[in-house]
Amino acid sequence: MEKRSNVQSVQVWDIPTRLFHWLLVLLIAFSWYTGTEGIMEWHMRSGYAILTLVIFRLLWGLFGSQTARFAQFVKGPKAVLAYARALLTGHPPHPLGHNPLGTLMILALLLLVGVQASTGLFANDDIFTDGPLTHLVSKETSDELTVIHKTVFDLLLAFAAVHITANLIYRFLLKQDLITPMITGRTTASPGQAAPRLRNPLLALALLCVAAGAVYWVVTRL
Ligand code: HEM
Ligand code: HEM
Repeated sequence: MEKRSNVQSVQVWDIPTRLFHWLLVLLIAFSWYTGTEGIMEWHMRSGYAILTLVIFRLLWGLFGSQTARFAQFVKGPKAVLAYARALLTGHPPHPLGHNPLGTLMILALLLLVGVQASTGLFANDDIFTDGPLTHLVSKETSDELTVIHKTVFDLLLAFAAVHITANLIYRFLLKQDLITPMITGRTTASPGQAAPRLRNPLLALALLCVAAGAVYWVVTRL
């Protein structure tokens, strides 16, 4: 048992990363609902917001806080295997940030959400809804991208289910709570683990504006 004096509470996730995560979850639920109910005006708006979030997260992964940077948490196959082996013992290490295996899921989710929102831009529903870029491709291509749009969504749901299950397994079986830090931003660090350097949220706001501007330009000018 670790002595209480040996652990300290540190901020591991900044506000922009947490807002990104929970807004993404809410908007995907909203996109699912509006997509299947055919409320297309709101479905497309929600899609633009998701695309903005994904572009923002890519920028924040380059310029943002230490724990949000891809260069910090994306690890090679050796580190992933070492972590997977430790996981099998039931006592995986608890890094201050994403663990190497969780990172693979995170990259997959970001990719799937990005493909989902991008194919939506070229989709059509054969009645009266065309994505804002559908006019740039042939009807056949738009139909194919619409099929991909629907298929990738099923894949996204499956990956999200595994992601949520993994978080619950960590919480209840491995006794590592990853969920509360994604809400409060704080976790406990062991001695020797330095508090991550977090960047000013105003920088995140500026990057969000860049992302929103890019999506606005693509949707209105192309
Ligand atoms: C559609 C559903 C979801 C998607 C697409 C999704 C996607 C993501 C992404 C992209 C990240 C990386 C965060 C970042 O660094 O920016 C992440 C992390 C995380 N998500 Fe989700 N998420 C979903 C649902 C949930 C739910 C429902 C929970 C709660 C049970 C959850 C708990 C977490 C936690 C705890 C982390 C941080 C894991 C760690 O400490 O490494 N996610 N998720
Ligand atoms: C990550 C964001 C998105 C998600 C999760 C999503 C999800 C969905 C879902 C679940 C459907 C219903 C599929 C079905 O009926 O089986 C759908 C349909 C559709 N989506 Fe999206 N979508 C997203 C982004 C977009 C965007 C950005 C656009 C266009 C601007 C778009 C355009 C369409 C169109 C036109 C359909 C109708 C396809 C049809 O009924 O044949 N979507 N989407």
